Amino acid sequence: MQINPGGRLDTKDVVGRDNEINRYWRVLERQGLVISAERRIGKTHIVLKMRDECRSGYLPFYQDLEAVHSIPDLIRSIYHTVQQSLSASSSLKLKAHIARWSSLLPGKVSGIDLPSGDSTRQVLLSQAFDDLLGIADNEVILLLWDEFPLMLHNLQRRERPDSAIQLLDHLRALRLRHADRLRFLFTGSIGLHLVLRSLRAAGNTNDPVNDMLSLTVPPMAHQDTTDLAAALLEETRAARPHIPDLASRIASEVGGFPYYVHHVVDQLDQLQRPPLLEDVSAAVDKLVYDPHDPANFNYYVNRLSSYYAADEGALALVVLDTVAGLSSPVPIPELLNLCRHRDPSLQDEALREVLTVLAEDHYIEPRKSAAGTTYDFRWQLVKRWWKARRS
Ligand SMILES: Nc1ncnc2c1ncn2[C@@H]1O[C@H](COP(=O)(O)OP(=O)(O)O)[C@@H](O)[C@H]1O
Ligand SMILES: [Mg+2]
Repeated sequence: MQINPGGRLDTKDVVGRDNEINRYWRVLERQGLVISAERRIGKTHIVLKMRDECRSGYLPFYQDLEAVHSIPDLIRSIYHTVQQSLSASSSLKLKAHIARWSSLLPGKVSGIDLPSGDSTRQVLLSQAFDDLLGIADNEVILLLWDEFPLMLHNLQRRERPDSAIQLLDHLRALRLRHADRLRFLFTGSIGLHLVLRSLRAAGNTNDPVNDMLSLTVPPMAHQDTTDLAAALLEETRAARPHIPDLASRIASEVGGFPYYVHHVVDQLDQLQRPPLLEDVSAAVDKLVYDPHDPANFNYYVNRLSSYYAADEGALALVVLDTVAGLSSPVPIPELLNLCRHRDPSLQDEALREVLTVLAEDHYIEPRKSAAGTTYDFRWQLVKRWWKARRS
């Protein structure tokens, strides 16, 4: 298995995630699904594994929507994705569909380039879905839409809020009309709730995905994390008999975040000698302190300015800086006091709201304790970076 932090892995190299995948299939039997979690926790690889090891009865299409900035982009992406996945498929059953789809493609895709008003776009989008539903007779069309909230965010910025709202309404109507023929699985690194909140501020009041189930991708199970670390260590100069101990130490230091596991092993690989147990902590420290930030921790700071309103982002920084400085979490009233130490003008209610948003956004999580609810970073490794760099 290749050490490859951030790269696209072969499905056979995607370790674990079977519990999550089973759960997601169970949900898809009855309704659509929104899965969200921080960037690089492994959403894309989960979804690609679901596509590549798809359950019978479904025809899956995966689309990365990160670069989609307009409705015409989305329509083009649908036609291209279907074209590509059908032609890559060896299924005899699909051959007839491929021929039909290929004959549709040039006309449809060039039509989308015409300057078009809202109503024309809606018609083209409807046609794209009609064409899509026409592919399968018995299977459910499963659309795996990766980074869906980011597309909405881009639509809202590049086109208008209306454009994102109309799309959400359109998709909801499609889900209702074709409940037994069409399923959506959306993933998101920015919470859909953040985008919906700003759409609501722009005048949209309904709840356009409340027919879908929202789930957070959990950390990878400890055993799977250890197995991943062990498989990656095989690629290094690590002495075989030391691999189980090294792997278990990596899993304990990093937690179930596979991207960081790849990074830590990559650091150990760069030693050019067999790594020892104490090298693991040093490798983690290297990631945390390296000014070039190879593991991209800065992303957690930067995204606050991209997706939070300015005053809310500032408040979020105060809360996170405070929480990062605590060696053990404290109950909410004490946390609010500590935040006010940094800025006496802060209001309790605004702080409470930002705690909720940060928890929904996977920065921190609430925990039950004898003294009351406390909040701590969801990832101790991120906390370590935050403390080292900001507190
Ligand atoms: N199940 C897994 N097994 C092995 N490595 C993984 C797994 N999930 C994620 N990774 C590692 O983490 C990186 C980021 O995963 P990715 O699926 O792109 O995250 P996301 O889509 O949540 O941003 C991958 O490039 C890979 O290095
Ligand atoms: Mg992804």
